[in-house]
Amino acid sequence: MTGRNADINKSPLVIDVDTGIDDAVALALAVGKGANILGVTTVAGNVPIEVATRNTLDVLSYLGRDDIPVHRGASRPLVAEYQDATHVHGGNGLGGVDLAKSGADEAALAGPAFIIQSAAKHAGDLTLVTLGPLTNLAIALNVRPEITYQIRRVVVMGGAFSLPGNVTPHSEFNVYVDPEAARQVFEADWGDITLVGLDVTHQTVLSRELWERIPEMNDGPAGLVRGLMARTFTERAMSGFYLHDPLAVGVALDLDLVQGTFCSVAVESSASATRGETTVAAADRGPRVATRVHAAAFVAEFGAVLGLPIADAASGFENAE
Ligand code: BDR
Ligand code: CA
Repeated sequence: MTGRNADINKSPLVIDVDTGIDDAVALALAVGKGANILGVTTVAGNVPIEVATRNTLDVLSYLGRDDIPVHRGASRPLVAEYQDATHVHGGNGLGGVDLAKSGADEAALAGPAFIIQSAAKHAGDLTLVTLGPLTNLAIALNVRPEITYQIRRVVVMGGAFSLPGNVTPHSEFNVYVDPEAARQVFEADWGDITLVGLDVTHQTVLSRELWERIPEMNDGPAGLVRGLMARTFTERAMSGFYLHDPLAVGVALDLDLVQGTFCSVAVESSASATRGETTVAAADRGPRVATRVHAAAFVAEFGAVLGLPIADAASGFENAE
């Protein structure tokens, strides 16, 4: 899974999270891949900001990376009333997994300020991947519009472009929670922005069968993954775990994982049944909306990096027409 963009793996990376089960798994992937993580910013999304920040500190500590600074960000959406997703991620956001408390403190600088600082310091080199509502990035954009050309690449986990949503029939969670922020980010003139929506993340699935084969007694990343996903396969009785946020991290490190088309993206922000809906129209510029993914290759590499007992998987665009 290397290609012309694989060098970006060495670029400085900022990860914006609302940790959250799959955010935690995504952090494990980024750490496991040896990504050059400058810092992690947190946002209210799956869980309230205090919980997201605590979880992020504890997950990084579990992964042996409590040296990575964690910057607390927005505690609520720009305009909308905040709604969490604890019905999916459990009350503690980690599916009930009780991690040891990190000895590290959160960093003093606020999340959006850290994004601004990193963009200026690493102008032309920084990759930013957002795994939660886009509130922090919208705030940073409003304060310092020049981040649109300072940041080399933005990768967003968000949107449902040709599929139904996952929080309503129309809307994907990260866009639904803060549609005003999403609209501002999608309308900005970024040098390079890729939207990784449900269209592709619903193709990258970790199966129940693989999850069951992860040894229960494992104190490495595989044990973390097993614990985090347990609620999905037991209480929620799902047959697979969508690798939403891990795929966005994968794309941030290797853009060739997905193919997409440039679009203008409209976001519905009214308090209506279609709030959070993302509608696309073909365009010469604008976000690149991912439409195809090397799903099997990604799941195989995900498994290899995290030490899961996964068999070889074929590569190729499985969803090719
Ligand atoms: C997104 O919503 C959140 O619940 C997940 O963490 C992911 O970022 C998927 O729609
Ligand atoms: Ca998330």
